[in-house]
Amino acid sequence: MEKAGLLIVDDQQEILNALQRLFKKDYRVFTAESGQQALGIMQKNEISVILCDQRMPGMDGVTFLSKAREIQPDAMRLIITGYADIEATIDAVNKAKIFQYITKPFEPEELKQIVRNATDRYRLTRENRLLQKRLESANKRLVSEKKLLQKQIEKELDLGNFIGNSPKMLHIFKLVRKVVDTPTTVLLLGETGTGKELLAKIIHFNSERRDKMFVVQNCGAIPDTLLQSELFGHVKGSFTGAVADKKGLFEMADKGTIFLDEIGDTSPALQLGLLRVLQEGEIKPLGSTRTKKVDVRVIAATNRDLQKEVEEGRFREDLFYRLSVFPIKLPPLRERKEDIPELVYFFIEKYSRRIGKEVKGIRPAALQKLIQAPFPGNIRELENEIERMVTLVDEGNFINDELLSPRFRKMAVNTIQIPSSEQNLKEAVGRLEREMIHRALKDNRGNILRSAEQLGISRVGLHKMLKRHQIEVSLFK
Ligand SMILES: Nc1ncnc2c1ncn2[C@@H]1O[C@H](COP(=O)(O)OP(=O)(O)OP(=O)(O)O)[C@@H](O)[C@H]1O
Ligand SMILES: [Mg+2]
Repeated sequence: MEKAGLLIVDDQQEILNALQRLFKKDYRVFTAESGQQALGIMQKNEISVILCDQRMPGMDGVTFLSKAREIQPDAMRLIITGYADIEATIDAVNKAKIFQYITKPFEPEELKQIVRNATDRYRLTRENRLLQKRLESANKRLVSEKKLLQKQIEKELDLGNFIGNSPKMLHIFKLVRKVVDTPTTVLLLGETGTGKELLAKIIHFNSERRDKMFVVQNCGAIPDTLLQSELFGHVKGSFTGAVADKKGLFEMADKGTIFLDEIGDTSPALQLGLLRVLQEGEIKPLGSTRTKKVDVRVIAATNRDLQKEVEEGRFREDLFYRLSVFPIKLPPLRERKEDIPELVYFFIEKYSRRIGKEVKGIRPAALQKLIQAPFPGNIRELENEIERMVTLVDEGNFINDELLSPRFRKMAVNTIQIPSSEQNLKEAVGRLEREMIHRALKDNRGNILRSAEQLGISRVGLHKMLKRHQIEVSLFK
């Protein structure tokens, strides 16, 4: 351990010399003949213990120690006083906050012990202080880490009712997390019913703009002038029927988000207006010569192939590039079949609550068929199918495959379980034949022609099979 610094202050040189001899083996000893000189030493060296005489010309001991305290508050202060110095001693305790006073005359060994105690105390104090500092900085770090964590938690998306755990959807959520808090334009691509509008909402309500407006405008199926007026507003008289000035959606949604659906259907004039918004953050109301500043985040969607629209000259290339800064492509449902069960349960819950009917759930066979289905209408199609079945099912029952719409009912459950006992191919095929004929007859209520059609065989062929398998058609009528 490094030697502790001991500062001895006395105006008598011979006492300084004697004390130095006493301590130099165990301490780094500094000596000073006056308080002034001692303060200078304290500015430059770490002192653990100060041993100082009370009676000195100029600055007395108590005054010096009080000043020393300001320089190194942790240094242990010891004062040597005479019997007569009662008052000074009291001062030393109160003002200079000394550790101990030593009255003359004293035994060298006694003094050594006192200085040793003081040194120990100094070390402890320092260690405590260091620990405290470390604790403080650890605390500060904890606080800032907590803040960071909170921020990250806030960054966690509130997905509300947006269902999806498939890798493709998790990737999309990752992209969304990156873009929510930026002003970046987002282009949502994907087939009909894949959830573009729902995702646009998720983006808005997870962004800093959540307290402002979220406006939806479908750009298809609306006359061009009307659409321009809807989005950018118009001035009185700009077209027949424009009887007064009107604010557009871009102005109303200032600081908010606008969702432009079917952006691929827009006219050249409208595309120009959109380019102005995206490029300059400005709109020009119909019939006006002046532009207005707006701060609106644009989320656009289309189920068209915009690139192709550009190639065929129907969509401005510059606008296409502006829009495609951050494209997100929602996968069709058939590419994320793993999400189907959860979606099914979610919609059963949603509609049974809405209709006020208790539904037990769905039978595996029905769910299997839904998983097999191609779903060109994606989630919207699935949702409609579930709503239909929840409406049809009897209270307190399971949804079974008989409630499925014909196009789903027809789906073959393609996971044929082959029991391990099954060895004979002919027998197995026979059983499959029987089962499929049963199902076709059931689906078509015993109608031979339609059943044969469903099975892809002739009526005569079906008759032969019915005979072979001894199936009684009347049971299905
Ligand atoms: N991940 C999802 N979880 C739950 N419901 C969803 C999900 N995605 C879509 N839906 C529901 O499916 C329906 C269709 O979604 P949405 O309107 O967002 O599709 P879209 O891509 O905008 O379709 P379109 O191109 O036809 O306008 C809505 O009722 C929506 O609530
Ligand atoms: Mg839509």
